[in-house]
Amino acid sequence: MQQKANTHGASLDFKVAPGSSLNGEFAVPGDKSISHRALLLGAIAEGETRISGFLAGADCLATLAAIRALGVRVDTSAPDRVSVHGRGIYGLTAPKQELDLGNSGTAMRILLGLLSGQEFAVKLTGDASLQKRPMERAIAPLSAMGAQIESRGGYAPLTVRGMRPLKPLRYMLPVASAQVKSALLLAGLYAGGYSWFKEPRPTRDHTERMLSAFGHGCLRENGWIGIHGGGTLYATEIEVPGDLSSAAFFMVAAAMTPGGRLMLKNVGVNPSRDGVIRLLQEMGAEVELRNPRVWGGEPVADIAVQGGALHGIDISPEQVVSAIDDIPAMLIAAAAARGTTRIRGAAELRVKESDRLAAMQDGLKVLGVPVEVDGDNISVTGVERFRGGVIRSFSDHRIAMSFAIAALRADAPLTIQDCRNVDTSFPGFAALAQQAGLRIEVQG
Ligand code: S3P
Repeated sequence: MQQKANTHGASLDFKVAPGSSLNGEFAVPGDKSISHRALLLGAIAEGETRISGFLAGADCLATLAAIRALGVRVDTSAPDRVSVHGRGIYGLTAPKQELDLGNSGTAMRILLGLLSGQEFAVKLTGDASLQKRPMERAIAPLSAMGAQIESRGGYAPLTVRGMRPLKPLRYMLPVASAQVKSALLLAGLYAGGYSWFKEPRPTRDHTERMLSAFGHGCLRENGWIGIHGGGTLYATEIEVPGDLSSAAFFMVAAAMTPGGRLMLKNVGVNPSRDGVIRLLQEMGAEVELRNPRVWGGEPVADIAVQGGALHGIDISPEQVVSAIDDIPAMLIAAAAARGTTRIRGAAELRVKESDRLAAMQDGLKVLGVPVEVDGDNISVTGVERFRGGVIRSFSDHRIAMSFAIAALRADAPLTIQDCRNVDTSFPGFAALAQQAGLRIEVQG
């Protein structure tokens, strides 16, 4: 379990032979967003929170190590089974050293909110990519609530000195970010009274749903989300569904190859982030949700996908938010579709684990796919077959996995460089993809 997000050591590349199609029935690993939140809410709940289906990827393991360092006992009986012995909202203790959050923006931003309400100082750091990601969007509102946060010009490493109680805040988020919203909701638990937040566009609402599951629901009024400070979170059992953003690579892979047919079991299909399903359907893909049910307040379904002909579509800024992590995979679908796909308002893709607009443009050019980036918009015109070649992943897990599946439509092998960080969100990706029919080898 002590795996660390990093880009150190020899490059680990994917070499993918062209052709074939994906088939089979399987589950993808647990949802990253939900796994982080289950640990963090479990840490400040009263009692033992049992988590099954936990994503034992490097990002969530960084959060797990962080809550341990904050004095929380965590038992792991299997990689995906975790018990968190909560210490109550006022029970965390000062860590002995800085918290290294590796590659994880989610861990850093949400923890920043939680630590804003503690009576001790903590230093948060991360890898080279995390140190380039904007933190001011969380620092500004948390400072307005009374936290003292030092940064390197708005970037990590950060030192947070909490205050108790924090000042309740009414705040319109300038950027649509579930990470920032979640940081503010957790800080809101430590404020004296109600805090209210509004987002420019709705983002994934896992935190709100999970707070309800822990018995501390949020209020909603005219687009504002309200949270009351104090009270108790009660430990619960959490069954984490499969991560839709991991399923997305397989969905695109099956959808763009005639003969492809996949059944992805137990995938989270929360409507605040299911854009990839609707976008693929709009492109003409056969994607069906079967056996819909609810796990701990989160909608879950089995997703059936069948290969066929895709066509280009226009993707709006609202649709970008609902598929924020799935745009790289969607760009591969676009590259295999008839006609042009135009995406508008994708600025946030520039501040993910890499500049994903630039990284996708770089790789699509290698594949011989016409691509244009104009500010925060990107358009891609589909081609029948891709060229082979060497693709840079920029150490970004989702760029690496997107180009791995592109090999299904290539004429020659693809080498994708520096794929070590695939483990941050999808440990076992290559083995699962190989089992489904992708001719992938891990080298290095
Ligand atoms: C996440 C929110 C999104 C997403 C990230 C996970 C979360 O980031 O890209 O992978 O768990 O809240 P932003 O909130 O910064 O858009």
